Amino acid sequence: MLAVVNTPGGSAPVELREVAEPQPAPNEALVEVRAFSLNRGELRLFQIRPEGWRPGQDISGVVLKQAADGSGPAAGTEVVALTDNAGWAERTAVPAHRMAALPDNVLLEEAAALPVAGLTALRALRHGAPLLGKRVLITGAAGGVGHLATQIAARSGARVTAVVGGPERGHHLRGAEEIVEGIDTVQGNFALILESAGGSSLAAAIAHIEAKGTIVVFGNSSGDATAFSFRDLAEHPNARIQGFSYFTSEAEERFGPDLALLVSLVADGSLKPHLVEHSWRELAQIGPQLRDRQIRGKAVFHID
Ligand SMILES: NC(=O)c1ccc[n+]([C@@H]2O[C@H](COP(=O)([O-])OP(=O)(O)OC[C@H]3O[C@@H](n4cnc5c(N)ncnc54)[C@H](OP(=O)(O)O)[C@@H]3O)[C@@H](O)[C@H]2O)c1
Repeated sequence: MLAVVNTPGGSAPVELREVAEPQPAPNEALVEVRAFSLNRGELRLFQIRPEGWRPGQDISGVVLKQAADGSGPAAGTEVVALTDNAGWAERTAVPAHRMAALPDNVLLEEAAALPVAGLTALRALRHGAPLLGKRVLITGAAGGVGHLATQIAARSGARVTAVVGGPERGHHLRGAEEIVEGIDTVQGNFALILESAGGSSLAAAIAHIEAKGTIVVFGNSSGDATAFSFRDLAEHPNARIQGFSYFTSEAEERFGPDLALLVSLVADGSLKPHLVEHSWRELAQIGPQLRDRQIRGKAVFHID
């Protein structure tokens, strides 16, 4: 079968190659992958992982063979799944508890946008629960995590301020009470801030957190460091700076239920991933666009 393979020394960071068929463990289903999405964090993995490594976390497709231990969806079920790697292939093995069945009205390409970005958005927002009536600030709101977090926060009753990098960057955003260009133009304080740009953005987030509010620090897209001291927090007493990893923030067995929650939000119309769709043969060309902040929402690839 064909699969995406890491080629860090080659003319492109990845390429399609013939590889061996997956051999599912007893708790794993065999899935025919139809679509997948690319995450910013995976761009770095292309550089640091060795030649021959197989990337791919976010996938959707159809179960070809149910897990041998009888767990998880039956053969023929359309699913969304989170794999550790090797998901960007014609077929892959997925632990049964890392997938959710798709409701009839959820498209495979929409579902493929959800695992890493949707779980990050959902789980980061839980640090501010309950969100009803609270002001929430989301940096990097145009991106994969940000545009989903904006919608989920709004669905939960929050009043969302979305920070984008330029005039064209917020056109696809749904659910924001206000969209601002650059965090420097933000007014007032927020009960919850999702911060992923780092550098001066994190410093500004500290200046805009409510007393006892929480800044969830989940990324450093700029690569810049942030200097701060206790004095910066003194006017925001008992505010919290919360480190975050979507993968370890909740128990392993919660992946399936949280993926099911995300697809149910898509099904009821309250969550709409914004997709930029391509063939998986174009993956190497689209990676630089994601790196250079030219993608709005999620880059999704069809296995054609
Ligand atoms: N901790 C975790 O568990 C976890 C999970 C998933 C992702 N992440 C991290 O969270 C961040 C967002 O992920 P994502 O998948 O949403 O990425 P993405 O789709 O590339 O979105 C990132 C957004 O950040 C904005 N941004 C602001 N300053 C930036 C800068 N200096 N360089 C690049 N982008 C900048 C960009 O929008 P504008 O151009 O409009 O400003 C861009 O749309 C990344 O740093 C990623 O590594 C962490």
